[in-house]
Amino acid sequence: MSHTAELEYTPEIAAATQPIYERMKSVVPEFEWPVHAPYVDAINRLKRERNAVILAHNYMTPEIFHGVADIVGDSLALARKAAETDAEVIVLAGVHFMAETAKLLSPEKTVLMPDMAAGCSLAASITGADVRLLREKYPGVPVVTYVNTSADVKAESDICCTSGNAVKIVESLGTDKVICLPDQYLARYIASQTDVEVIYWEGSCEVHERFTGDELRDYRKQFSDIVIVAHPECPEDVLKEADFVGSTAKMINYVGDEKPERVLLVTECSMSDNVAVEHPEVEFIRPCNLCPHMKLITLPKIFDALTNMEPRVEVDPEVAARARVTVERMLAHS
Ligand code: 13P
Ligand code: SF4
Repeated sequence: MSHTAELEYTPEIAAATQPIYERMKSVVPEFEWPVHAPYVDAINRLKRERNAVILAHNYMTPEIFHGVADIVGDSLALARKAAETDAEVIVLAGVHFMAETAKLLSPEKTVLMPDMAAGCSLAASITGADVRLLREKYPGVPVVTYVNTSADVKAESDICCTSGNAVKIVESLGTDKVICLPDQYLARYIASQTDVEVIYWEGSCEVHERFTGDELRDYRKQFSDIVIVAHPECPEDVLKEADFVGSTAKMINYVGDEKPERVLLVTECSMSDNVAVEHPEVEFIRPCNLCPHMKLITLPKIFDALTNMEPRVEVDPEVAARARVTVERMLAHS
């Protein structure tokens, strides 16, 4: 794959990208823009030439999220939109399992992943063979699998879920027991919201598991009016301190609906930046953790992917056929 030379910041590019910069200037320093602008300009042109659409997760940095993305959202929204788009090419600005899910739902499309190394600690925590062993141990118990997994793991499961629909999916099965894989914290959160017995795996998100209840209690002492909004991948003592728990999209909607004066989003760092752009009236208190996988995705890598039309995500057709069913079952319920 060829890597492009650094693109130049010209007066024409400065003028053409000024309106885009205006939107994000509260979170992207002015001295950074000459580095981003040539890529924003070039990517937005290349996208049209290639009939490509850029799907970006809420954890992308603001210059990607507000500069080049066509569709932004949580894992559920990205899966839905991947299934619906008419574009020939999907660039997935997120992590590998998201690109794989897009490919499962749109096998005829070219799905580009700007950096194949962008993984996920949850996806890495379990294999298809592990799921087969669990099925032997708990015969007849349905397996609900978080989308943060490989196609192999999805192929061995009954239905997928995301943090946005997990409780609904578990309850839709009508059983008194389910196996929820692979996030132990999401599984415990689901168990706290339903009477269904939840058997869980010991996986965790390396970003959300680092938050603690103690640090949130300290913030509450410092800012008595603070509203705490947390992602269900966080440990139980963190969720206990939260005023609201939900997927990244639900967290964003909560801020938009409630417009708290001061909010703490207990999740990946770029989320607060991206939401702050839309809500200048809200003060964001920012203890946050970076996802090293999400942060592998950069504008130059998106530009390279669109220029070279690679790296492409491919899934073994036999695995894809079985994995697709589990994602489609989830989408039918959402
Ligand atoms: P959602 O955006 O679906 O809430 O997922 C968060 C996450 O950690 C994705 O990797
Ligand atoms: Fe995986 Fe956590 Fe990073 Fe999301 S934030 S990609 S769950 S490691």
